[in-house]
Amino acid sequence: MEASDLTAPGDAWVVDTLRSYEPAALHSQLPVVWHHAAGARVYDSGGRSWLDWTSGILTANAGHSPQAIIDAVRGQAEQGLLHAYMFPTAVRARVVRSLCELTGFPQTVLLTTGAEAVEAALKIARRYAMSRGRDRAMIVSFEGAFHGRTMGAQLAGGLPAHRSWTGRGEGIFLKVPYPVAGASWSPAVIEEALAVSGARPGDVACVIGEVYQGSTMRTLPRQAAQALREWCTRHQVLLILDEMQSGFGRTGTLFGYEQLGARPDLLLCGKGVSGSLPVSAVLIADPRYTEELAPGELTTTHGANPVCLAAAEANLRLFRDGMVLDKADELGKLLADGLADWARTRPSRRRVVASWGMVAGLAVTDEDGAPDPPAARRLVEECARRGLLLCAPARQHGGALLKVMPPLVTSPDELGEGLAVLGAASDAVC
Ligand SMILES: Cc1ncc(COP(=O)(O)O)c(C=O)c1O
Repeated sequence: MEASDLTAPGDAWVVDTLRSYEPAALHSQLPVVWHHAAGARVYDSGGRSWLDWTSGILTANAGHSPQAIIDAVRGQAEQGLLHAYMFPTAVRARVVRSLCELTGFPQTVLLTTGAEAVEAALKIARRYAMSRGRDRAMIVSFEGAFHGRTMGAQLAGGLPAHRSWTGRGEGIFLKVPYPVAGASWSPAVIEEALAVSGARPGDVACVIGEVYQGSTMRTLPRQAAQALREWCTRHQVLLILDEMQSGFGRTGTLFGYEQLGARPDLLLCGKGVSGSLPVSAVLIADPRYTEELAPGELTTTHGANPVCLAAAEANLRLFRDGMVLDKADELGKLLADGLADWARTRPSRRRVVASWGMVAGLAVTDEDGAPDPPAARRLVEECARRGLLLCAPARQHGGALLKVMPPLVTSPDELGEGLAVLGAASDAVC
């Protein structure tokens, strides 16, 4: 990362300082220094603004800095309680109640990050399995999956490059191919993979998957979701759906699974739970799943931070009152149509990999149809020069995958503005 024409002159020191004091492993995004953000826009300290197609990596679903969240955070801070560890607080009681009421799950565990929620869910599932004599308590997951960057989450993840430091978790972690759209899927693939490891369905604690894979942008077909649900029920295996990305309206409904007709036993969410400060959650379909755990076994220092939970409470109210979800479905259709037009203008070089609600994946290719990472990078930079902010190209699809993820409160005019910039920038560079 280096300061560039995208960096406000007065902010070059920020980029330089981060480069001096942090590992380059943190520096994958453009050198646009965020000063404040509101609704669907991000601003630098000089007042230059960008229409945001990142949502802060699918967090600001209800838009950046909604007044209700700012007021709630301020109110909690002014109450004079910034931290309470695991002692009871009123805000925590209100949040667990409203999260359970909103989702229809009877219990929840509040945590901080997505990876933490994944780790907690794997622990719940394995402990539950072990309590029923399933000593191997295997974790089945999908090739191409991303579940976070901690060790357990990366072992469950299905991106080989991410597991270069973890080993493969032989004996516990088992990977199977993610179902393919348009092809019928059978859980026999799980049973075949288990047999190769000398295991049976009765050795499995859980299957963990995403309703769309944030890294590959493949979506879980409805038939596969239901077959998986049925297999898990038949073999008393917990189905965990990680809806960190797809949750909180991103696909047009509160959670993507609602459109697939396959309700998980453990539902994981983060990012859009608070739309801002770090809050994640494991939603638990049956309180029996945690009965084996002793008091204290799921606690964390910051998991129930009152300021973060005040933000979550205000955000959940926006979802409960329909302020966000009402718009997401309609807007998603406009986005899909606009991106299809974008691809049609130059089909040899532009492809829509997937689009579901307010998230889409675009691939930039060369004239022979091969991924073109330099062109994808040029496109991200050119969009930013013209006022549209995208995340850097992802490693998948040959490093030329661009993700489109505007806040759900983007107005139709703003969406049109973003699509126009994408078109003009693409005409200039690819
Ligand atoms: C599906 C999924 N699971 C888990 C995570 C990890 O979340 P966090 O970065 O908050 O640990 C992510 C993050 O992008 C994700 O997309």
